[in-house]
Amino acid sequence: MAESMLGLKRSHRCTELSLENAGQEVTVMGWVQKSRNKGGIIFVDLRDRSGILQIIFEESDCGSESFAKAEKLRSEFVIAVTGVVEKRSGAANENLATGAIEVRAKSLRILSESETPPFHIEENSRTKEELRLKYRFLDLRRPDIQRNLMFRSRIAILTRQFLAEEGFLEIETPTLIKSTPEGARDYLVPSRVHPGSFYALPQSPQLFKQLLMCSGYDRYFQLARCYRDEDLRADRQPEFTQIDMEMSFVDVDDVLDVNERLLHRLFKELLNVEVPLPIPRMTWQEAMNRFGSDKPDLRFGMELKDVSEVVKDCEFVVFKSALENGGTVRGINAQGQGAMPRKKIDALVAYAKDFGAKGLAYVAIQEDGSYKSSFAKFMTEEQMKALADAMEGKPGDLLLFAADKKEVVWSVLGNLRLELARQLDLLKKDDYKFLWVTEFPLLEYSEEENRYVAMHHPFTMPMDEDWHLIDSDPGAVRAKAYDIVLNGTELGGGSVRIHQSDIQSKMFEVLGFTPEKAQEQFGFLLDAFKYGVPPHAGLAYGFDRLAMLMVGADNIRDVIAFPKVKDASCLMTEAPTPVDEKQLQELGIAIVKE
Ligand code: AMO
Ligand code: AMP
Repeated sequence: MAESMLGLKRSHRCTELSLENAGQEVTVMGWVQKSRNKGGIIFVDLRDRSGILQIIFEESDCGSESFAKAEKLRSEFVIAVTGVVEKRSGAANENLATGAIEVRAKSLRILSESETPPFHIEENSRTKEELRLKYRFLDLRRPDIQRNLMFRSRIAILTRQFLAEEGFLEIETPTLIKSTPEGARDYLVPSRVHPGSFYALPQSPQLFKQLLMCSGYDRYFQLARCYRDEDLRADRQPEFTQIDMEMSFVDVDDVLDVNERLLHRLFKELLNVEVPLPIPRMTWQEAMNRFGSDKPDLRFGMELKDVSEVVKDCEFVVFKSALENGGTVRGINAQGQGAMPRKKIDALVAYAKDFGAKGLAYVAIQEDGSYKSSFAKFMTEEQMKALADAMEGKPGDLLLFAADKKEVVWSVLGNLRLELARQLDLLKKDDYKFLWVTEFPLLEYSEEENRYVAMHHPFTMPMDEDWHLIDSDPGAVRAKAYDIVLNGTELGGGSVRIHQSDIQSKMFEVLGFTPEKAQEQFGFLLDAFKYGVPPHAGLAYGFDRLAMLMVGADNIRDVIAFPKVKDASCLMTEAPTPVDEKQLQELGIAIVKE
């Protein structure tokens, strides 16, 4: 029996009420969190998105009809209650915003009944995520996830407000676009009108926002849905949202400046956290050398040290052969971990191997200054001391070394550093350490494709002072590209764009495009560049990642209303699903069974 709302109007959300409303008649509506019948008196916790309010039913106040209805209330029934706010008769509940009050009901309507839900709606549910995602519409009722989504909304609104104040225009760009080969794999959408042809869903609005600059819009932004068919991780979804922007007549500093002020405003207004400005900058090269990562987590030290020089004359064949093969030997100092049990060290070695290490050499400096080490027997006493000194090793420290190609050593030690920080609980969520990583390499060599590919994208401007190296040493050319990093997460990235057709043509050549191929793929952009193009630059944040870090969630799914799981499916709607034969026929598509 579901009643209507006829003649009723909600006066307050649950937690908009306080002792100041004592004596007032109010009407509240929401879901029954729980109901306790104490015989003659019924307590109901009423929940809406603002929180919980206690309602108290006694027949003498609400009459027999409402009281009879109240006796039937179960979790998740939707009800409307009119009653009077009063000071709580029992002890105040310190855990509730409305813990000092209750509403004494005068009347009750049951607006909707509920079956017993498959899991209890509660904060920090321990229900398996699979079940929660299957019933996401129920899971979304949980207070913690409601807080996340409400917070996310505030970021979006404040971002719009800030960017509008800075002269940015919000402009939408298409989501059925032309497929281009650079970047991640595209999601394709078949065309019915053009059988055999496909749209792609955008991986980002990149080319359109550059065209908007060519068209004179000067400053653009968009909260843009993006789609990438790539392997999912905790901070990746196949569809996600960018805070995307582009600016004309600017260089690196202008983009960084606006964005620093945006971040400052968001963190100040939404978290009351003061982000110190300017945000520090570090070149990509320095980030790799010191942290083994292009998105270093600066909440802790444990920096990488190059000890190649120190060990170059030792007899340890692992070190020797790495150096002879043009590699490097580097280490990190896990301070105070010298007593780490062998089993735990072995686990670290196994972890390092996941990142390509052939092994991990270690030295535990004992309290008496002696060394316990996997390779001490190949070293003289002086060599060990020199190595420990180079690592600033003190009694009680654990030194870990990787010997290999530079790239492998970076990856191994960079990840090991993070793993140790997790184990040692060094990563405080409310410690926000921002960093700009700048001067990324323009190109990286793809072994798979046997050619250079753009590290950011093919429209990124090389650094003026490096451009002359483009033929002789393309890998050494740096780009006017930057990432904003927060606590080891790549929050966003961008670049100054090429606006000169000669540089752009050369870029395509280096990337292995013939002029014809470049014209075929990107002709519309190249054409636009023939008719007057302003110097421009931009950046895009992963909005979901920003929200995740700001609310302190561990997974991007916790800030997305209807997320997908690891295999890119939606457990609630079961998308993707096979479609009707008729739909396929219209599209001229035949499914080939493997
Ligand atoms: P980029 O590819 O670096 O740059 O993307 C910008 C930011 O988007 C976020 N991001 C993701 N978030 C969730 N799931 C994903 N699968 C995912 N992929 C990327 C990251 C990333 O930093 N057009 C350029 C920007 C520019 O040059 O202006 C671009 O898309 O936080
Ligand atoms: P092995 O000669 O493979 O028995 O290795 C001797 C020691 O060196 C072991 O403790 C290995 O874990 C370590 N080790 C092997 N390869 C490397 C490497 N590339 N870098 C650092 N340590 C290594």
